[in-house]
Formats: sequence, structure tokens, C-alpha cells
Amino acid sequence: MQHIEKPGDSNKNTDRPRSVYIATYGCQMNLRDSEVITGLLLEQGFGITEEEKRADTVLLVACSVRQHAEDKVWSEIGRFSKMVPKPVIGLIGCMAENYKDSAFKRMPGIDLVVGTNNIGEIPQLLKDIFDTRRKAQDIKRKLSVGKANRDEFVYQPEFRQEENHSFVVISEGCDNFCSYCIVPYVRLRLRHRNPENIQKEIESCIKKGIKSITLLGQNVNAYQFKAVSQDQEIRISPPPLPSPHRGREYRSRSIVNFIQLLELVNNIDGLREFSFVTSHPKDASPGLFQAMADLEKLKKYLHLPFQSGSNRILELMHRGYSSKHYLELAKQYRKIIPEGVLSTDVIVGFPGETEEDFLETKKLLEAVRFNHAYIFKYSPRLNTKAEKLKDDVPKDEKERRHKILLDSQRQISRELKSKT
Ligand code: 5AD
Ligand code: SF4
Repeated sequence: MQHIEKPGDSNKNTDRPRSVYIATYGCQMNLRDSEVITGLLLEQGFGITEEEKRADTVLLVACSVRQHAEDKVWSEIGRFSKMVPKPVIGLIGCMAENYKDSAFKRMPGIDLVVGTNNIGEIPQLLKDIFDTRRKAQDIKRKLSVGKANRDEFVYQPEFRQEENHSFVVISEGCDNFCSYCIVPYVRLRLRHRNPENIQKEIESCIKKGIKSITLLGQNVNAYQFKAVSQDQEIRISPPPLPSPHRGREYRSRSIVNFIQLLELVNNIDGLREFSFVTSHPKDASPGLFQAMADLEKLKKYLHLPFQSGSNRILELMHRGYSSKHYLELAKQYRKIIPEGVLSTDVIVGFPGETEEDFLETKKLLEAVRFNHAYIFKYSPRLNTKAEKLKDDVPKDEKERRHKILLDSQRQISRELKSKT
């Protein structure tokens, strides 16, 4: 499927890299971004390699959400910089948006820095770099960051990494500004893709034989697409067959919300199953759980991060709900979808987290009994509100709290698994 450069090929006479190696670090959003970049490059005649040793260009699509993730990427850039001959090195995505031109100073081996919404420019930027190289001139570093919106064309390439499953972005960015989180600064403001384009993208996956889809966004259940004016109403194919959710009219409406989008996707002919990540408790409701129960193609899986069980910490995190509210939501979910899977994210060691706060988190984790939980140790992130608070929970204490929750969750996951 992918062009792999033959040994001995040379890129001296071409303005296009023959063998681009793309390394992805981070969440599903980054995986989809890497897939999009691969598709754009293949369509413009670039070669892609899965072997880093053959690469004339290395693009690192890299996450900024925690310090640990970034440290790994800096060390990988160091390693790639020492390769002989040194490949062209590009830092792409959240880390590029976070460090901008300071990335060049930190790691002189970097030639290209491209932010999350600028990824459509990568083919041209690489052509420019290879053009200068062909003319035996010194490579000029390229910086392209800060674009407010992503162009729709980036989602159009046919290329898909997997044969049976695909991610489809429904919203980009985030407006929640949780105090610990860098996402609103690196993926920028919340934007919702037009449902017609989402539908078309899913249909094009189905044409390729992909029948399982995950709808992606930082906070998918805040999805709301508004047509700008009456004559720009949203036009979507009518549902193919009758069903309880198919009586509604989608052909022409001015607003589509998340539940309506789920209904629309459920009605796409040829789709076998779909799911969505990630949800925010403040935008989740029994109405959403009921729609999940009713829509036959929708997987009964909800990822609903609670982050902390202490109301004091939740407030400092700007999460917009209390632990009681979260517990109530989880109860409703279990009641409406008894066979449903529930997972979460938790942060331990947020600034000022006392033993009491931590025990509240443990209590909530154990009361809800999640099927899976991802537990993280807090790390301060540049420019976030929490960065201004003293990171006062010692490293060892973060480790201890992390281990306690991990052990507790492992036990719960085992017990729930043995019941199924
Ligand atoms: N420190 C630790 N964990 C974090 N997360 C986000 N920001 C931070 C941070 N600064 C976690 C949250 C989020 C998950 C993707 O990463 O739990 O839900
Ligand atoms: Fe970050 Fe909060 Fe947005 Fe999730 S909801 S991406 S934690 S700011």
C-alpha cells in the first residue's frame, strides 16, 4: 500500500522526499493526524517508509499533554539528529504549536515546525526544503503555526491505515480550559465539522470496506453545528430505512446537535458499528445514554473522565461539576445501559491535593467501578492556569497515589471482566 524507497535511490534530483517516516506520539487525534498527513503526501507523489533507517525525512507528530510525553519526543529528535546522513526532521502538531520557533533553538536538528491546523501545508513546505537541497543550497528552516481553522481538504485523502476501522474527526480544539490542560492552547478553539462532510467521509470509508468508525473530538458531546444562514441549511441524505430514530428530518436543518449526529451516523447505509471519544461530564446526560441504548449500531462504550473526586480540586481544575453529579451520571449510565462499558481518566497530585482530596478520588473510583481507568500523575503545562499554582505534591507522593489507584482499578477491572 505504501511506497517504500528501494535501497540506493537518491533524492538529489527531486524536489520530493522519497521516503518520509512518520512517528506518532499520543492520542487517537494524533494517530488520525498522522494518517491525514500520510494521505496528503501520497496523493502528491511523496514516498512513505515504515523503516526509519531508510528515511530521508522524519516527521514527529507529537503530543504535549504531559511532560513525560514531550521528554520522550525531545530524546527521539536527538536520536534522529545523529543519524548519518541526517534526515530532514519535522516537529508536527501539539508540540509544534506549543514550542513554535523555540523548538529550533532547543533542537538544532529540526528543519520544520508545523502546528495542528497547518498540517495541510506540509507537502509544500517539504517540497520547498527539498528544492533548496536539490540546488545544493543550505536548507532554510520552515515554521508554520497558529492557523485558527483546519481546511476541510485535509480530510479528503483516501488513505486509511487500517482495513476494518477508521477514526473520523467531528470536532477540533476545545473551549473548556480545564486549568491543567494544554489542549485549548495547542489545538485551539472548539470547531465542529459540517455533518455533511462527516457523512461523506464515513461513506468513503464504507466504500473502501471499512465498516467500523470512531467519531473523534476532545469533547464530542458538546458537538453542535450551526448553518450560518437560512440558505446554507445543512443537507444530509435521508435515512434509508424506517426505525424509531429515522422518522426525523435531516434533509435541511439549521442546527445539528450531538445526539442528532449520532442518529445520522447510525442511519448510514453499510456502516456496521461506531463509537465516540471523548466525552465531558458537563455535556453528558441521561438523554445521551438513552440515545446510546436505542441506536443499534452504536457501541455501548463511554469514556467519561472524572479527573478528581474532590469538589475542591474539581473547582480548581475548572471542571464544572461536583463528584455527586458525576456519581449520579455514572449511576444513570449503568441503569440505562446495564451491559455498557464505562472508562475514565484520573489525575493524581494536582497542586494542593491533600490526602483527604486523594481519598475522595479513590472513593469515587471505587463507587463507580469503572471497566477501565487511565490514571495520570499531574505535570504542569506551559501557559495553563494551574501552571501558576505551586506543584507541591512531591514526586514520590504522586507515585504512591498513582499506584494505589492503579492497584484498586486493576482489581475492579478483573472482577468486572470475570462477570462477562
Ligand atoms: N497532567 C497530568 N495529566 C493530564 N491530563 C491532561 N493534562 C494533564 C496534566 N497537565 C490527562 C487528563 C486527560 C488525559 C487525556 O490526560 O486526565 O483526560
Ligand atoms: Fe483538556 Fe478539559 Fe478540553 Fe479535555 S475538556 S481537552 S481536559 S481542556
